[in-house]
Amino acid sequence: MKATAFAPSNIAFIKYWGRKDEELRLPENGSISMNVSNLLTTTTVEFNTLFKQDSVTFSGKRELAVNNRAIKHIDRIRKLAKIDTKVKIVTENNFPTSTGLSSSASGFAALTVAGAKAAGLNLSEKELSILARLGSGSACRSIPDGFVEWVDGNTSDTSYAKSLYPPDYWDIVDVVAIVSISKKDIDTTEGHKLAGTSPFFSTRLSLMKNKIKLIKKYIQEKNFTKFGELIEAEALEFHSILITSTPSLIYWFPQTIKVMKFVKTLRVEGLEVYFTINTGQDVHVICQQKNVEKVTSLVKEIKEVREVIINTPANGTRLASNHLF
Ligand code: PMV
Repeated sequence: MKATAFAPSNIAFIKYWGRKDEELRLPENGSISMNVSNLLTTTTVEFNTLFKQDSVTFSGKRELAVNNRAIKHIDRIRKLAKIDTKVKIVTENNFPTSTGLSSSASGFAALTVAGAKAAGLNLSEKELSILARLGSGSACRSIPDGFVEWVDGNTSDTSYAKSLYPPDYWDIVDVVAIVSISKKDIDTTEGHKLAGTSPFFSTRLSLMKNKIKLIKKYIQEKNFTKFGELIEAEALEFHSILITSTPSLIYWFPQTIKVMKFVKTLRVEGLEVYFTINTGQDVHVICQQKNVEKVTSLVKEIKEVREVIINTPANGTRLASNHLF
């Protein structure tokens, strides 16, 4: 059977970093995110007894099936569905991959929903979120709609994401400033393993519960100022863990810092904007809908910014009827 799904990436306001179980991808802490409308993966999966081998085509390029993370994920689905049929996967992103825009979140969410459907499984949102988590942690947050919480949990069954609010709950915007399309040198799967080497990681974890409580309060109150201050402080704290790990993880480029400083200057001048950054060089500039045009045109004026992608809050992963093959 063949199925197609499209999935949004998500931006974490409170970030997942470090794992208490590598195999199950159980995070050291819970996290809070928003699905983004314009960073999307579309994936078609077909299981067919006529296929002689597994195949994966990513953005028009055939990938090696051996040791492939997508095929490993399909193996989880085959196990659940009790099938051993070969698979064909075709997947496309509408944005650059491996630059810190969380393409693994949208990628594994789309693969999970399309793969489960194509294998004839009928899984609940919670089960899909758990399955997506096993492929890539942050992917579990791209399954439910809008503003999302991933509760860390101590077992596989208790570690999944659920929607806090639908996308239209709050009209905030994520203006992504792309400063380079260079791929990162250390991917997050390896990066998470280094979290504990930072002398500050235990301090971060000890403050996490309160941070999550606060961000949920600010989202509930739609208090943009408090929310913005907290997400920016969180992004800087997160990067301080990366920078002080052994080996150190420095994802920022000079252009990244330029955009960060620009955001701070805009605030001094009275325009309310805040930044957050994942494991990459691009900057997510968060503003309110009423300011999006102004913010976008100002960000575009920075000569180091190559492209801007405007994202509103979005639904989670959905099945689609148009297949990629
Ligand atoms: O799901 P992973 O292994 O790609 O890790 C994601 C880590 C961050 O993007 C840096 C933070 C997050 O919560 O999305």
